[in-house]
Amino acid sequence: MNEVDKDFLALLGEAGATGLAKGIFLVRKEERFRHTYKDELSHWRYFASRKRSWLELPVYYLLLVVGILTGMLGLGVTKRVVNYLERGAINFYVKNYPNEDIIKEIVEQEKRHFL
Ligand SMILES: [Fe+2]
Ligand SMILES: [Fe+2]
Repeated sequence: MNEVDKDFLALLGEAGATGLAKGIFLVRKEERFRHTYKDELSHWRYFASRKRSWLELPVYYLLLVVGILTGMLGLGVTKRVVNYLERGAINFYVKNYPNEDIIKEIVEQEKRHFL
């Protein structure tokens, strides 16, 4: 995948992850979800320093709604959704950014988001 495409996907992925985490936190007021939200926001800001898109906020708000609905469906569903998406994010970063130290740190944070 070329530089522009992977940075674009990472940017929108992290905007979405931030919305999802925020939505889950709004329903389940637990420290671990607040922590995940803060991490995802920092990942979004990092990729926003490389590239911007008008789609960031629409994706953020769409996934905010998805996060609220996910949280309302209970912890079992929340676990399945979060773990599926974190696994996808980690695979994407390992495959597309094998040599970038900041992204290795992001991957370490994503690993701590599994439920
Ligand atoms: Fe992230
Ligand atoms: Fe994550």
